[in-house]
Amino acid sequence: MKVSNICCIGAGYVGGPTMTMIAAKCPHIKVNVVDINQKRIDSWNDPDVNNIPIYEPGLSDLVKKTRGENLFFTTDVNQAILDADMIFISVNTPTKTYGVGKGMAADLKYIELCARQIAEVATSDKIIVEKSTLPVRTAEALRSILDNTGNGVHFDILSNPEFLAEGTAVSDLLNPDRVLIGAENTEKGKKAQQALVDVYSNWVSQERILTTNVWSSELSKLTANAFLAQRVSSINALSELCEVTEADVNEVARAIGTDSRIGAKFLQSSVGFGGSCFQKDILNLVYIAQTYGLQEVADYWEQVIIMNDHQKRRFAKKIVKTLFNTVSGKKITLLGWAFKKDTNDTRESAAIYVADYLLNEQAEVTVYDPKVTSEQIYSDLNYLGTRSDEENRRLLKVESGPMKAVENAHATAVLTEWDEFVQYDWKDIYERMLKPAFLFDGRMLLDHEKMKQIGFDVYTIGKG
Ligand code: NAD
Ligand code: UGA
Repeated sequence: MKVSNICCIGAGYVGGPTMTMIAAKCPHIKVNVVDINQKRIDSWNDPDVNNIPIYEPGLSDLVKKTRGENLFFTTDVNQAILDADMIFISVNTPTKTYGVGKGMAADLKYIELCARQIAEVATSDKIIVEKSTLPVRTAEALRSILDNTGNGVHFDILSNPEFLAEGTAVSDLLNPDRVLIGAENTEKGKKAQQALVDVYSNWVSQERILTTNVWSSELSKLTANAFLAQRVSSINALSELCEVTEADVNEVARAIGTDSRIGAKFLQSSVGFGGSCFQKDILNLVYIAQTYGLQEVADYWEQVIIMNDHQKRRFAKKIVKTLFNTVSGKKITLLGWAFKKDTNDTRESAAIYVADYLLNEQAEVTVYDPKVTSEQIYSDLNYLGTRSDEENRRLLKVESGPMKAVENAHATAVLTEWDEFVQYDWKDIYERMLKPAFLFDGRMLLDHEKMKQIGFDVYTIGKG
């Protein structure tokens, strides 16, 4: 079967970039990306491609080439479903905030709504592709909805989880380590799997396209994120030990990372991992293990989250302790709010929790981030519900430039590893700050010897 029309439900961080890549590499396929969020679709359609809703290096150029040719963004979900041979579901799957599994399980209500809408609208056979990250065995629930509420048409269900990382989405999509496609073990299931293999084969080599059964594919996505996050928590756990033993966590990371069995990647100690998925996916894995009665498995993975929370908190605590046990009324400048560099995404960013901790200690927090808007920063803080919007706006200031942000600060803390922070004139920053000028490096980003020579009192993660 040859696919000529694709619909993707969900024009977010995953749906937008992945469909843009498919459109760019498969000019013979028409791709409709649909969303219920009119504002988001309008931004994707903004005549100035620099205003698309997601900042990713290289993305706007690709959108410029494909939009209006074979890539379309629309809110007409039903028409796109009707026209498609293959429908990707790429909607959000956040942690449940109510009821059974609250705070742990994935909330599948958006997935279920999509399935019901597809079943209601479709009048011809469709291949349904799970692109969202889902609990293992979700395809079973999808099948039940599609088969029991549909118009008698046939649906094949594939699992094709996405492994792109934010900030490198375009290069990850262009050169993926692997593409994973899980299918039902039936003749039709295999044909559907081959149809998706054929789409990716337009630019990904055969040996990088892995085919499995649906359950392995669903579970591999949660497992991949759990392993990645576990490496960060492991090195962060060691960072605390380094701080009290005069070992240097970067040296330890290099020493172990050169062992080819361990590997060098994902061993950068930090103020804690953030992002929309690591925490959510591990909590989901913990919940799934619990529901099968596998308590030891659940406890093992939960420790990754416990260590991450500890790392964020102890960094904030260290600031308070170093500033003579009180930050009340003191200006503390946070450089960076995004959860990592090269993205404007702030979901679960460590900076949010560090700021909240410092505000509880009555600090006057000032933030500068090159890509994050002040409205986003206030919205992240308000979401925690610790204090009112009014209070957050009164206690926390957002500056549009770094030099103004550090003016008269007691301490500056680096929370995101933006390249530009390294380039700053740190002598000038030192002069603008109150003395003693405290510098907290939550990313091991700066040249600490140089900073000490300038005059800073330096504290960094992972070094005594
Ligand atoms: P997102 O919140 O950026 O986008 C999801 C979009 O789906 C939203 O725009 C929302 O309006 C839309 N939507 C929800 N219900 C809808 C419906 N019924 N009809 C039409 N549109 C609907 O989410 P995201 O970051 O793109 O993540 C999507 C999935 O991909 C999640 O399961 C996530 O875990 C997974 N994932 C994310 C990343 C990442 O880097 N963000 C990477 C890999 C996998
Ligand atoms: C992560 C995975 O890397 C992707 O493969 C996956 O598709 C995605 O989650 C997802 O499912 O959403 P992402 O969260 O975009 O991607 O970014 P990462 O580069 O993995 O970074 C996550 C967090 O870990 C960031 O806060 C980063 O600063 C932190 N990190 C990463 C470290 O502290 N140290 C490291 O060595 C690596």
